[in-house]
Amino acid sequence: MADRKGKVAVVGAGFYGSTTAQRLAEYDIFSTVVLTDIVEGRPEGLALDMNQSRPIEGFETRVIGQTTGPNGEGYEVISGADVVVITAGLPRKPGMSRMDLIQTNAKIVRQVAENVARHAPDAVVIVVSNPLDEMTALTQLATGFPRQRVLGQAGMLDTARFTHFVAEELAVPVASVRTLTLGSHGDTMVPVPSQCTVNGAALTDLLTAEKIDELVNRTRNGGAEVVALLKTGSAYFAPSAAAARMARAVVEDSHAVLPVCAWVDGEFGISGVYLGVTAEIGRAGVVRVVQTPLTDDELAGLRAAAEAVRAKQADVENL
Ligand code: NAI
Ligand code: 2OP
Repeated sequence: MADRKGKVAVVGAGFYGSTTAQRLAEYDIFSTVVLTDIVEGRPEGLALDMNQSRPIEGFETRVIGQTTGPNGEGYEVISGADVVVITAGLPRKPGMSRMDLIQTNAKIVRQVAENVARHAPDAVVIVVSNPLDEMTALTQLATGFPRQRVLGQAGMLDTARFTHFVAEELAVPVASVRTLTLGSHGDTMVPVPSQCTVNGAALTDLLTAEKIDELVNRTRNGGAEVVALLKTGSAYFAPSAAAARMARAVVEDSHAVLPVCAWVDGEFGISGVYLGVTAEIGRAGVVRVVQTPLTDDELAGLRAAAEAVRAKQADVENL
């Protein structure tokens, strides 16, 4: 592929950030992928390692690693970035909820967001640090960017988990399954069985309500299930696949409709909150929120999720 364009920066070179950077580079469509972290030498070392995988995997995109300092030293490297993915922050330990991370990660994310605003003022920002909905709201406040240019990754991951569980249950290829989860990345995740299909047939005709509930609960606890098995750190292969696809949709201006955490202002009768919804993604970030048809119960669940995250998001200004 000759025509590589666009620069994507990934802040935080931990498990999530490094796998995201490698996936982005392997797409072989960007001119540059930047990876930064505050741990001296880690992003440089990982970038060198990734670049050395180029002859084997056959991609030309260059990865640049850069350690950043406490006062924003090194952030010049993200200048001109089309997309910045923020993965900086602590992951969960077994038994912790995503909300247990809020104080620590808010300080990290605020500092990162301020540097992004300074050095990549035109970027679309994709937030992944947890708790996701609150960190997305905080990033928008700290950058001062238009709300459409700041979005969060959670729905693609939750939906992928749901799809995987349905495919396993019915022993069908994942490609034949369509599922959807909306709401928040947490206890108020809202599965949308009415929109789920297998080879075009309604999921509700293929599985009992009890079985769907069981798979929904496993999806809701999908992150914790991986954390409990790993004992240290949280999931990153599926999460990084989701963030990388979102970044790609922005740079390619694909107008793909994806489940993401986006600013909702009027859609579904919900106003003024970052929430997991389906949205059309393009060069400007969120082009529009797509109002998926919902049953009355699903809509009530989405509105309840909006109220739950609204209360938490109101506090992020002071974190
Ligand atoms: P990790 O601990 O492997 O990596 C985090 C990295 O952030 C570390 O390398 C650390 O040095 C770096 N960091 C800390 N402060 C920084 C700063 N000020 N600037 C730049 N880098 C900084 O954790 P992992 O697994 O990569 O997870 C990252 C975050 O993503 C966590 O908050 C985790 O909960 C979240 N996550 C979100 C998911 C989602 O669906 N939204 C899914 C999985 C994880
Ligand atoms: C996950 O869902 C921990 O948010 C992270 O895997």
